[in-house]
Amino acid sequence: MRKILYAASECVPFIKTGGLADVVGSLPKNFDKRYFDVRVILPKYMCIPWEYREKMNYLTHFYMDIGSRKQYVGLFEMEYDGVQFYFIDNEYYFNGFTPYGDVKWDIEKFCYFCKAVLSALPILNFRPDLIHCHDWQTGLIPVFLKDSFQADLFFRGIKTVMTIHNLKFQGVWDMKTIQSFTGLPDYYFAPDKLEAYKDANMLKGGLVYADAITTVSNTYAEEIKTPFFGEGLDGLLSARSHDLRGIVNGIDYHEYNPETDPYIKKQYNVENFRREKIKNKRDLQEQLGLEQDDKKFMIGIVSRLTDQKGFDLVAYMMDEICQLDVQVVILGSGEWQYENMFRHYDWKYANKVSSNIYYSEDLSHRIYAGCDAFLMPSRFEPCGLSQLMALRYGTVPIVRETGGLKDTVEPYNEYEGRGTGFSFRNYNAHEMLNTIRYAEGIYTHKKREWNKIIERGMQADFSWEQSAHKYSDMYDWLIG
Ligand code: ADP
Ligand code: GLC
Repeated sequence: MRKILYAASECVPFIKTGGLADVVGSLPKNFDKRYFDVRVILPKYMCIPWEYREKMNYLTHFYMDIGSRKQYVGLFEMEYDGVQFYFIDNEYYFNGFTPYGDVKWDIEKFCYFCKAVLSALPILNFRPDLIHCHDWQTGLIPVFLKDSFQADLFFRGIKTVMTIHNLKFQGVWDMKTIQSFTGLPDYYFAPDKLEAYKDANMLKGGLVYADAITTVSNTYAEEIKTPFFGEGLDGLLSARSHDLRGIVNGIDYHEYNPETDPYIKKQYNVENFRREKIKNKRDLQEQLGLEQDDKKFMIGIVSRLTDQKGFDLVAYMMDEICQLDVQVVILGSGEWQYENMFRHYDWKYANKVSSNIYYSEDLSHRIYAGCDAFLMPSRFEPCGLSQLMALRYGTVPIVRETGGLKDTVEPYNEYEGRGTGFSFRNYNAHEMLNTIRYAEGIYTHKKREWNKIIERGMQADFSWEQSAHKYSDMYDWLIG
């Protein structure tokens, strides 16, 4: 039996700010239980809903030396959906209303979390063969592991994998501060280890010390070796390119299933979507106070509202888009300039645009099911899950050809009768607008073709099955 521990800062259903939580919450369920015992360890945030916190069982607690301090580490556990979860409890660190906030505070929190994860293992009596770390919040685990923990036989030979979900965030602060948070010796604060551009960088630590590095699509794995996408770490990633691979994300096919989805008005599948899917569009139009008209080309957006997602292109073209016979439905929150931009267009084109500036699981499903097209013009996109959800619900993605969007959406080719969506190449507002116009034209004038695009999209397989195989092969190879 191979024992694997996932360490992460978010995980569905406990706590989610983006796709990382979907991945950590769904991938562990997809390994063959006869060969893999995959467990997950997370912070026990106060903002995890009470319905989950009340089910966690207190195991024990201890005090850990970190920097010049001693910190409390409480351990809780819970089984959920067949997966064993552990939670690190410390109310001083994990009491916020959201999992992240002030950058420096987050850095201190996750320095603590990384050391607490390792310190907890002997007490949990669980010795993983491999620890799979996700994003910068867990970047120091491979570093601590190679440091003082080696003195203990228990830890020798544990392998590590570092997965990059988003290279934009690295956990960077000045070296003195991070040294004081971690208590790591001077040795680590050098340019071939934690130091990057005179600061200390937690993700870099993980990338230097992990036995293997993965990211969440093939294209992004290539892109991050170049300066534009590399966020200053392209040199290191090129140097480690033999240990770096892309494994595309999947989505939870039970959770996201138009045939059984309890959030949507009318369930449907690839056989009957031509008749049934429209009922979800009517329902959504009614719910959001938009004109009830089957013919309007309804474009959906469900996203964090940040620069990454390409909303400056949308801001630039919103007036033009609204000249078409469309409706635009937005669900998202994030940077104030994009929140206000969408609020403004909701006011300006009240019967065409519906901006919903908040987080809602329920509405997100209704948008994936109800819209005709799904817009994702990202500047960069490590994988992207929203376009996979849209495909699954027969909502045609319109994307920019970057990262995982390029790997998962096959552009429509009207001559060969192929493709599952529409895409444009350059980060250019007019290219995006032309692609939206082209899609709207097919939708309006070539309904049969449009329905075939939907059909191919719904038939594409983005469940975890294939990718979980790739992860298990990698684990096997690393553990030996
Ligand atoms: P990222 O991780 O960069 O935010 P992904 O496409 O990988 O992008 O994942 C985003 C996830 O968050 C999807 O599950 C999407 O449905 C969800 N999501 C984003 N914004 C909202 C929102 N306002 N309400 C509900 N779900 C949202
Ligand atoms: C990050 C990326 C997104 C990816 C997700 C899960 O948040 O921005 O593209 O799908 O992680 O891997």
